[in-house]
Amino acid sequence: MAQANTTPAPDLAAIQAFSAADMAGIDALIRHRLASDVVLINQVAEHIISAGGKRLRPMLVALAGRACGGHGAEHHQLAAIIEFIHTSTLLHDDVIDESDLRRGRSTANAIWGNAASVLVGDFLYSRSFQLMVELDRMEVMRILADATNRIAEGEVLQLLHVRNPDVDEAAYLQVIERKTAVLFAAGTRLGALASGADEAVQQRLHDYGLQLGYAFQIADDMLDYSAEGAALGKNLGDDLAEGKATLPLIHAMAHADAPVRERLRAIVEAGDAGAMDEVMAAIHACGSLEYSHRRAVEYAEAAEAALDGLPESEAVAALRGLARYAVERGY
Ligand code: IPE
Ligand code: IPE
Ligand code: MG
Ligand code: MG
Repeated sequence: MAQANTTPAPDLAAIQAFSAADMAGIDALIRHRLASDVVLINQVAEHIISAGGKRLRPMLVALAGRACGGHGAEHHQLAAIIEFIHTSTLLHDDVIDESDLRRGRSTANAIWGNAASVLVGDFLYSRSFQLMVELDRMEVMRILADATNRIAEGEVLQLLHVRNPDVDEAAYLQVIERKTAVLFAAGTRLGALASGADEAVQQRLHDYGLQLGYAFQIADDMLDYSAEGAALGKNLGDDLAEGKATLPLIHAMAHADAPVRERLRAIVEAGDAGAMDEVMAAIHACGSLEYSHRRAVEYAEAAEAALDGLPESEAVAALRGLARYAVERGY
């Protein structure tokens, strides 16, 4: 069993250096395929894409491919597709969440408004379909059609849970599987598929991505309540403001004393961002960040375990490192 909680923090810089050539190729492709002759599309898309982001998902596609012995143009195209889908969901997410900070910049919705953000999100989404079709592989289209459909289900499920204090851990996990983990899993499976890996190996990479996606989203939800969130490039407390109960708050609601519990439930029902200090106090008193971290580590360990049986290589080591990074990251 991997020891995600005892091994030293992964050397992200070394993983990035190993992936640098792939990432340069993927980035060039993303830039090239972003273009439209509609000025507003270029402006909005450039704004969010050039802000960077961690580019974790395309890196995972490339690394999964290399872990299965392959690399090349098809991997890069798949990586760009995954990043376009991700970016389109961010444009939509910031409208839904009424967020005004993303990747250290004002959000597109804050600058150009909700309509422009939704429509340019649709542009990126449909551009990803164009890139998919170019690959002319039914299996690729099936995986991505299924993944994007599940993401949409996750977003709607999450919407149904807004301001609902009865959302429990099981309901939360169902949402994050769909809205986040499924795209990670599609990306790592596709990296393997493009390398010609057989179904069993594709499934391992899929499982790695899925478990990593859970860990990554739990960590993201913790960062919304963590004082070190300043480097995040996103506003802290957005989840609370919209009445979205994520794992730290769900844990606190389940474990606080009755009066505090009632208060937390009322805060979720009201989406009361002004009560952040009270929520933080309850989360600390209940050890809810520690609990969430433990859960994230369990998923990261499961991600690493899915890789057991693959021939060890620098790419597999990098995937293991990213599993640990996902739960230790500060942004
Ligand atoms: C943000 O994803 C959305 C989540 C699933 C938490 P990232 O944290 O990967 O965002 P960028 O691409 O680095 O900005
Ligand atoms: C992730 O949820 C959104 C998607 C997977 C589309 P969040 O709402 O937590 O993402 P951030 O925190 O705004 O990046
Ligand atoms: Mg959001
Ligand atoms: Mg978040």
